[in-house]
Amino acid sequence: MKTVIIHGQSHAGSTCMVARELAQKVGWQTQEFFLPRDFDKPCLGCFTCFQQDLTHCPHYAQLEPLANAMLEADLIILESPVYVYHATGQMMSFLDHFGTWWMIHRPRPEMSQKQAVSIATAAGGGMKSTVRDMADSLEMWGIHRVYKLGLGVQATKPGEIPPGIQKKIHKKTDVLARKILSHAGQQGCNSRGKFWFALMGFAQKHFPPMEPDYSYWEQQGWHRGGRPWK
Ligand SMILES: Cc1cc2nc3c(=O)[nH]c(=O)nc-3n(C[C@H](O)[C@H](O)[C@H](O)COP(=O)(O)O)c2cc1C
Repeated sequence: MKTVIIHGQSHAGSTCMVARELAQKVGWQTQEFFLPRDFDKPCLGCFTCFQQDLTHCPHYAQLEPLANAMLEADLIILESPVYVYHATGQMMSFLDHFGTWWMIHRPRPEMSQKQAVSIATAAGGGMKSTVRDMADSLEMWGIHRVYKLGLGVQATKPGEIPPGIQKKIHKKTDVLARKILSHAGQQGCNSRGKFWFALMGFAQKHFPPMEPDYSYWEQQGWHRGGRPWK
């Protein structure tokens, strides 16, 4: 089984440490990418992905290894330090490139077999909004189980994290790793993804077809009762 970690920064600080600790406890083959080191492009707003396909994105050559690694992984970990109450700009720019994967456009059935974790560390505040920044995409991609791990570390680097908080981190990653292993190989979709898929199915039937989404749904059999998670 495979894990991919997308680091929302290019340095190995506290957030990277937590993500690696979790991946190591899960124990699967792990691949890591760092932003902006491995992908540094902001979305151009050209709508090529929506009107054609993600493979036509002007940034696709640089994006492809990361996109493929996520499609092949059983566990996707997105992590970011909290920067002014949100995920890093480079993490948000990266996620902007996957709008077509959202349940309301052309969701990828592979997502139904995956689990994902959104991890953030902060000195003290903004963890909730930051894990939400990344979990929005993970849930709307239709990933079966999405976990959120926000930690206030009271530190600017791993060496400064107080022992009590370090202990808490070890405990939380233990519990989460066990949970991930117990659900390995299961298929399904998170409830938010299901809700938006159902709403879009209704819209596709009652409003003029939006292409190329409509034809993609038709090919997948989703207008005839099929579902990405079945
Ligand atoms: C530009 C910048 C903005 C930050 N904004 C916040 C913030 O809004 N809230 C907070 O508690 N900590 C904030 N911090 C502190 C970091 O989130 C915190 O130290 C984090 O654990 C660093 O993770 P890292 O070691 O993985 O880089 C900020 C740090 C930087 C560099």
